[in-house]
Amino acid sequence: MEVIIQPSPEDCAALGARIIGKLVKQKADTVLGLATGSTPLPLYGELVRLHRDGKLDFSGVTSFNLDEYIGLSGDHPCSYRYFMQQELFKDINIESERTYVPDGLADDIARHCLAYEQAILDCGGIDLQILGLGTDGHIGFNEPGSSLGSRTRIKTLTGKTREDNARFFDTIDEVPRHCITMGVATIMDCRQILLFAFGEGKAEIIAKAIEGPVSAMVPASILQMHPDVTIFIDEAAASSLKNRDYYREVFEGKPSWQSI
Ligand code: GLP
Repeated sequence: MEVIIQPSPEDCAALGARIIGKLVKQKADTVLGLATGSTPLPLYGELVRLHRDGKLDFSGVTSFNLDEYIGLSGDHPCSYRYFMQQELFKDINIESERTYVPDGLADDIARHCLAYEQAILDCGGIDLQILGLGTDGHIGFNEPGSSLGSRTRIKTLTGKTREDNARFFDTIDEVPRHCITMGVATIMDCRQILLFAFGEGKAEIIAKAIEGPVSAMVPASILQMHPDVTIFIDEAAASSLKNRDYYREVFEGKPSWQSI
């Protein structure tokens, strides 16, 4: 696990976009795992900029989103399908039939979840997964207590997550109670993971996820067991980390062959 502390979310986004850019150049049919929430917005802005400047071609890329609210259609402004369309897909040249987001209106949710897992396998697995972090430690929508071996399935959102996400809705009562999310094990199968977290509000949970014990009560802590994870955080999100000086030293002293 590599922890990279940068002055601002924009600096983190620039580095993350460079990693994605390199990968897509090497492998035109890259399979990306994508996240929603406010955290990936600077990253998506940077990817759009690179694409507009002619430096990033998404024509061969496939994407799988982590999660979706149950009960919201893809054209509902609070659905994650809509979010992805507005914040990324409409501004890059990704083929829309290669953008997968769980269907919050699926009739048979269990079957839909199995098909989602199968679609990931059929594409050869996810090369690189983008993650944000919930203030309760969730990744995707894998709330505390989620099985560390879980696959794509229905979950019930915690009160804390519904409160955190109420800012996107008119009232908290409109925040759905259920979602479909890739499981913890689905995320762990991704070949490379980039997690982003910004602001003081994430400092405590970042410290638990990176330096605390691995526990289903902090689902993001399982990333300690993944062989290729990079955590991008700003100074505020890094403020509770015991080893933050060491992480800085490692990044500053990176040998050139390891540079991003
Ligand atoms: C949601 C998403 C997560 C995201 C988290 C953090 O609950 N399902 O994938 O990481 O929120 O949100 P934000 O980036 O807005 O802090």
